[in-house]
Amino acid sequence: VRRITAPQIANRKGAEPIVSLTSYHAHTAAIVDKYADFILVGDSLGMVMHGMESTVGVSLDLMIMHGKAVVRGTQRALVVVDMPFGTYEESPSEAFRNAARVMKETQCGAVKLEGGRRMAETIRFLTERGVPVMAHIGLTPQSVNIMGGFKTQGRDEATWAMHEDDAKAVTEAGAFAIVLEGMVEPLAAKITKQISIPTIGIGASAECDGQILVLEDMLGLNPVPPKFVKVYGSLGGQIEAAVKAYSDEVKTRSFPTEKEVYR
Ligand code: KIV
Ligand code: NA
Repeated sequence: VRRITAPQIANRKGAEPIVSLTSYHAHTAAIVDKYADFILVGDSLGMVMHGMESTVGVSLDLMIMHGKAVVRGTQRALVVVDMPFGTYEESPSEAFRNAARVMKETQCGAVKLEGGRRMAETIRFLTERGVPVMAHIGLTPQSVNIMGGFKTQGRDEATWAMHEDDAKAVTEAGAFAIVLEGMVEPLAAKITKQISIPTIGIGASAECDGQILVLEDMLGLNPVPPKFVKVYGSLGGQIEAAVKAYSDEVKTRSFPTEKEVYR
């Protein structure tokens, strides 16, 4: 099966909504691969998989490790790997060096980075050199220490022009799609109408050209999911019930039984 490509995602503007989820590991990625157009190996894995307080501590090596697992576990969806904090902001050439490493070592089809107009020059530099780039604006978690928390963007209408300009700048720079995270609904809808590349919403708008959620959040593994998450599963409860049943059976010596031992 040939994988979905970044240009195919770009061509979905205004067409059937783009389906996406994050995944950080082979078994979940194989399930998501049946339904998602692209799978994001997000740097949210720092919090979800490694218990960090923010994404700021995530390294390039960690992204590459999980990126490899997801590419190996899938065959259909485009795999997009997040560039972590500190690996692309300094200069376009540093960004290219690190993005090329991600692509060579994971065999993913694109990278994502945070920032609007300030990252436009870098997005152009990468796309002109063979790296498809997904942009990410609005609430950008790598800037949590500047924002002073994870704050919904665009509540003050005076800031809308800045977000609209960010979306325009990354579009002109050659990004194939853009994540709109944590912004008021009418702003996300407005940006979606203004630009020619697909917008992928998370805490944004149903008007976006696609949607993404963190898999563990929508599966019900996050005990305190953000407001914008719709919880479709109850894995937390299911895992706990299974672990408790196992614990009880070990203690009462009712596991293993005849079926699970070698005679
Ligand atoms: O890291 C991540 O999971 C993301 C998505 C929420 C867009 O960047
Ligand atoms: Na991310």
